[in-house]
Amino acid sequence: MTIQRPTGSPPRVEGASVSPPPGLPAGLPAGLPAGLPDPAQLARLATEFFSALPGGAAAPGVSAGSGAVGGVASALPAAAPILASASNPAPAGSPLAGPGGSGTGVPGLAVPQGKAAGANLLPSAPTHVLALGNRAPALVPHAAAQNGLPDNAVAIAPALEPRAGGAALGVAPFYFLDAPGHGWQRPEQPIALPASGIAAPASFGLPGEDELRELLSIHRFAPLDDQHGLPRGGEPYFVEGTRAQDATPGLAASTPAARPPFDVNAIRRDFPILQERVNGKQLIWFDNAATTHKPQSVIDRLAYFYAHENSNIHRAAHTLAGRATDAYEAARAKVQRFIGASSPDEIVFVRGTTEAINLIAKTWGVQNVGAGDEIVVSHLEHHANIVPWQQLAAQTGATLRVIPVDDSGQVLLDEYRKLLNDRTKIVSVTQVSNALGTVVPVREIVELAHRAGAKALVDGAQSVSHMRVDVQALDADFFVFSGHKIFGPTGIGVVYGKRAVLDDMPPWQGGGNMIADVTFERTVFQPPPNRFEAGTGNIADAVGLGAALDYVERVGIENIARYEHDLLEYATHALAPVPGVRLVGTARDKASVLSFVLQGYATEEVGRALSQEGIAVRSGHHCAQPILRRFGLEATVRPSLAFYNTCDEVDAMVSVVRQLAARRT
Ligand code: ALA
Repeated sequence: MTIQRPTGSPPRVEGASVSPPPGLPAGLPAGLPAGLPDPAQLARLATEFFSALPGGAAAPGVSAGSGAVGGVASALPAAAPILASASNPAPAGSPLAGPGGSGTGVPGLAVPQGKAAGANLLPSAPTHVLALGNRAPALVPHAAAQNGLPDNAVAIAPALEPRAGGAALGVAPFYFLDAPGHGWQRPEQPIALPASGIAAPASFGLPGEDELRELLSIHRFAPLDDQHGLPRGGEPYFVEGTRAQDATPGLAASTPAARPPFDVNAIRRDFPILQERVNGKQLIWFDNAATTHKPQSVIDRLAYFYAHENSNIHRAAHTLAGRATDAYEAARAKVQRFIGASSPDEIVFVRGTTEAINLIAKTWGVQNVGAGDEIVVSHLEHHANIVPWQQLAAQTGATLRVIPVDDSGQVLLDEYRKLLNDRTKIVSVTQVSNALGTVVPVREIVELAHRAGAKALVDGAQSVSHMRVDVQALDADFFVFSGHKIFGPTGIGVVYGKRAVLDDMPPWQGGGNMIADVTFERTVFQPPPNRFEAGTGNIADAVGLGAALDYVERVGIENIARYEHDLLEYATHALAPVPGVRLVGTARDKASVLSFVLQGYATEEVGRALSQEGIAVRSGHHCAQPILRRFGLEATVRPSLAFYNTCDEVDAMVSVVRQLAARRT
């Protein structure tokens, strides 16, 4: 069999210098460029807009039940009490629910007689919507910073200003309080960049001239749902890049190629660390299953947040709180779109996949799993998808049951079917095995779980960066992933939960941010997602995750999937024939991972030898001891690929393994 090298692989560059990350301009023009709106005029317009709203109509984001903008709305005096109304009680069935399902927050403590929970939260003198207009001038960029710089980038280019022109950054404008795609929202418009271009738009993940043309010629955010050609079970996990757009009515004819061709050379230039030298060699990063590197746009977005937006969120009604809240909620909306959730309220930010699964086990699990119940996981699971369920089983008297795998490392669906019964409460499986790379048929697994009356959790830590995920098509009740494995920062991750499921879940951690009202007698909780985000969250890194998802969308996840598939095929066929190499995990559908052992060598010896050549792989048990033991092993060497890797890098790795093999086998 001839394996084609994925096109576009650059030669390995020895001794290439690191280009300094583009920074913000050292100086800015004193006046506004011609044609840009005068901030004072903006202020007047905003005031007029709010004043013109009919007295009975709520301003966008202020209406009760406008969940998509809950966090944003809380920046306004009138909004917070409405959000904190009796419509947000602890859910019925929650151990923390009081009479009528209204939460007191203290088990066994009822809401005081004669008081509807949350009634005390309704404003006694609600701020009239007309009064909101008075705040508008304060929200408009106008002040000069002490160092002489304007307090915003509108003087450079509208697109860099997170409130006035931030749609391109994905930052919802502050006065346009609704989430993107809802209500009164500034439509996407051509962005006028100054001819002299002081700041490079690319630094912020903004489109350049060519990209802009492409952006304006296609509908980039065409709905990517099942009706529009998303992969279904039985199809390869990678799909043709144009399929979704081809299937969008009215677009097929005018958009023959919806994505630009995949150019790994250009991709690599976006990741500064790939030019790093390690042990005198240019870094080859094959430890992507452990963590991925960050494109410059993510690094810049984090710096921009701390330089221009840093504040706590949801609480204070001041300008930076508004910017930070907008940026954070915009990131939530990006996650929603990226995984195909139906509402941003279904997206809970957590630290990572481990925290995500713990949250679910310790809230949904404690509420719904009891003695004699069963929890199903697969043999492939990472410890993070074993230990929390084991702890739950020990606490409740439930049993953990395990779907076996065949010798290729694929789950045995027939055996899975036999495990399901009316005691099964939840099935929790990975979509891609971190140790073997197996792509698991999760859609079928979810469907069978539902037929048995169980809930289903899909661990997307190792899948979300390699293939299109659509949680509605999967029909998973929960989907979890980590930001750092999809080119975003560490310390940020996601729980997706179906709205109805999240609504019924009690909180996990208690504290600020997740409450609607607290007295010493009882607490009323916020609705999801805030109910699960106690305390100050990882605001900046959520914003960084949003930038990472923007980056992946620009490259095109289908382009990524196709390129990586070819690269993995290439690597598999290069490594397999090396004498003494045993590949571990040979399922037909695999993503990214190429686990192996080499006869005559401990895995750490191979890892060290590769590291000497600047090649980073993980060696060890990969936090998945049960599946390695299934194959009679305690450890493997695990190269794991990403879309910035190349065939030349694979060749370099295989060459080292060959040299090792020649010495001892
Ligand atoms: N889960 C990460 C890995 O597989 C840490 O390496």
